Amino acid sequence: MKVGVVGMGAMGQGIAQVAAMADCEVVVFDAFAPMLEKAKAELTKSLDNLVYKSKLSEDRAKVINSRYHWCHSLNELYNCELIIEAVKEDLDTKKKLFGELSKIVSDQCILASNTSSLSITSLASSVLLPQRFIGIHFFNPAQILPLVEIIPAVQTEEQLTQSVLQIIKNFGKIPIQVKDTPGFVVNRIARPFYGEALRILEEGIADIYTIDWAMTELGQFKMGPFTLMDFIGHDINYHVTETIFKDFYYDPRYKPSFTQKRLVEAGYLGRKTGKGFYDYSKPIPVSKIEYNINLGKEIKNRIVVMLINEAAEALHLNIASRDDIEIAMTKGVNYPRGLLKWADEIGIEECVQRLDHLYNHYHEDRYRCSSILRKMSYEGKMFFK
Ligand SMILES: NC(=O)c1ccc[n+]([C@@H]2O[C@H](COP(=O)([O-])OP(=O)(O)OC[C@H]3O[C@@H](n4cnc5c(N)ncnc54)[C@H](O)[C@@H]3O)[C@@H](O)[C@H]2O)c1
Repeated sequence: MKVGVVGMGAMGQGIAQVAAMADCEVVVFDAFAPMLEKAKAELTKSLDNLVYKSKLSEDRAKVINSRYHWCHSLNELYNCELIIEAVKEDLDTKKKLFGELSKIVSDQCILASNTSSLSITSLASSVLLPQRFIGIHFFNPAQILPLVEIIPAVQTEEQLTQSVLQIIKNFGKIPIQVKDTPGFVVNRIARPFYGEALRILEEGIADIYTIDWAMTELGQFKMGPFTLMDFIGHDINYHVTETIFKDFYYDPRYKPSFTQKRLVEAGYLGRKTGKGFYDYSKPIPVSKIEYNINLGKEIKNRIVVMLINEAAEALHLNIASRDDIEIAMTKGVNYPRGLLKWADEIGIEECVQRLDHLYNHYHEDRYRCSSILRKMSYEGKMFFK
């Protein structure tokens, strides 16, 4: 298969490598020539690394490297069967690009965007054949993370969605089908991991050290919320939250935090600037953790039940299937357990009580319990029985 990748930043490079390793010919383009040169060097280095780690033979690395076709004009993508766009996250830039691409490619070409937050339906409206347009959302780093969200636009023909699911399986990835709604499924369900942790911090219930400890030690998450936000970068993480908040017509469940906004304003963007919630010029002071099991459980239970509420609501609104929601959070963001199974383990009635307790305490819509949980609790049902 001949695959085009447009935009050779972090994501474009990852996607190009995934396609080349799946035996596709990969035509790559970036509007900025130096980025193309940089990507060439990075992709060679990435293959060398796999050879060094004995994950790839030298011969195979050479074959894979020969599958990249570096081009300096969009016109050279004319005979691609699938083109995945990974340029900067800006609606006008992407629409302009797709408008041009759709005049170059054949009627059989599938045009796809790797956008994290823009409407696929809106992007589809910029091409000549919107029925052949779709969202293919990889996670960073695309070479490593197995999950890919497949997001049909309102205009996408059903058969095309099925073909794309199969293509992504052939890439060795785990595709899930998701409705075209803000944040798709992973970024939407994950919001309370950050938002609720920030709220707990702002209320002075615990500090960042203790919240991160509670979520890793007691919750078994790979990283605590503050470590993870520092890792992602506050500019990116704040922007995603703000976009989702606006796109959900200012639903208070997704309200961004001033604390994080101030970090962005200060330029304390996290690891990449050496400072975020943590100061990376010094060792992290573990002595500041308050090893109080009751407090730790309270923090973990509160954040987990907010995540469960979000997953339940996504299922209720048919954003993705039950099984795909579980795959999304375990394969896309490495959660220790699927959230719906976790709800079953805690007990649906208990989840409802925890949410109602928060709601009764704060009287804020942010803590409203999803109607699916309440109905299941009345009926004594579980997600997996
Ligand atoms: N970085 C992530 O964690 C992540 C994860 C999933 C999805 N995404 C999405 O993937 C896309 C790319 O993200 P990124 O982090 O790789 O960005 P990036 O800024 O690292 O790279 C973007 C690249 O696009 C090129 N570019 C810009 N305008 C162009 C144009 N008109 N034509 C061709 N090339 C152009 C730039 O030169 C740059 O090389 C965005 O839509 C982003 O939302 C990012």
